[in-house]
Amino acid sequence: MPSKVSCLYLLTVVCWASALWYLSLSRPSTSYVGQLSIPIRQKTKLTKNVTFSNIRTRPLNPHSFDFVINEPKKCETEAPFLVILISTTHKEFDARQAIRETWGDESTFGDGVRVLTLFLLGRNTDPVLNQMVEQESQIFHDVVVEDFIDSYHNLTLKTLMGMRWVATFCPKAQYVLKTDSDIYVNMENLVYNLLKPASKPRRRYFTGYVINGGPIRDMRSKWYMPRDLYPEAKYPPFCSGTGYVFSADVAELIYKTSLHTRLLHLEDVYVGLCLRKLGIHPFQNSGFNHWKMAYSLCRYRRVVTVHQISPEEMHRIWNDMTSKKHLKC
Ligand SMILES: *[C@@H]1O[C@H](CO)[C@@H](O)[C@H](O)[C@H]1NC(C)=O
Ligand SMILES: *[C@@H]1O[C@H](CO)[C@@H](O)[C@H](O)[C@H]1NC(C)=O
Repeated sequence: MPSKVSCLYLLTVVCWASALWYLSLSRPSTSYVGQLSIPIRQKTKLTKNVTFSNIRTRPLNPHSFDFVINEPKKCETEAPFLVILISTTHKEFDARQAIRETWGDESTFGDGVRVLTLFLLGRNTDPVLNQMVEQESQIFHDVVVEDFIDSYHNLTLKTLMGMRWVATFCPKAQYVLKTDSDIYVNMENLVYNLLKPASKPRRRYFTGYVINGGPIRDMRSKWYMPRDLYPEAKYPPFCSGTGYVFSADVAELIYKTSLHTRLLHLEDVYVGLCLRKLGIHPFQNSGFNHWKMAYSLCRYRRVVTVHQISPEEMHRIWNDMTSKKHLKC
């Protein structure tokens, strides 16, 4: 008869033996590693979350620039129907003046359609030019400058500054036009035929000359896109940067999306990438011309934008169109 003690002894030995056998068997297997590493796994999970929240709070593209010249109160009294953002460079004094005196004139529509015109600039490396722009701003109060270096490669920053300005200082505006200083804009057409102040305001709306294209890999091109910056073969549909129009809610959406979207120097492509992330599809509108178009009264009555217009041409076109309002085409 085995005693209680030897029975217990046998049990212990069997237990140990099976335990050792189990360990030796399962050492390389995942269950053994898994058992031991439960706390480690939880730790990795935690650090993953910490990393994730770091990405959220430390953006890829923080746009941490200060306003050097700003017009924070320009929108305060009454929300405009349309904010016009014009990308410009320091030396284009006469182009800005031509726009002020023609289609960008804020007093064109007296009848409750408030228009607000702003010129967008960065900092020039030449302090004299900065000073001249500052004086210009003190006269006209229509210039906004952030402290990034103004260059063709930084054009995207200029657009984002404009989006930021609308989102911060003019969130109640209805529509925004982003354009360049060599563009003629048919404001009548844009305001009354496209945007229609009397109709219900649109949201998540974006329109212009839609381009469905892909990156140009030729280094000599103005639109060269290195493969490591943008590896995909196609761009999402985007509106030519010569002129696009959107409902003002999109300004904040794009600005916030840009904070988590790697910067690309091609401003219009970059805005297209943000729109894709937001699930907003740009509408094609044949009134936006991103090439030059010879002037004729009837032709220009049908357009919204025309590219490559000099300050002199701008005056001539404007004078002709406003003096011949009564003429039928
Ligand atoms: C980690 O993130 C996920 C997804 O956002 C969330 O469900 C989970 O609660 C988070 N865990 C911790 C520990 O914060
Ligand atoms: C763009 O602006 C940033 C900030 O001022 C500057 O560091 C950078 O050199 C500029 N890039 C170009 C290509 O000018």
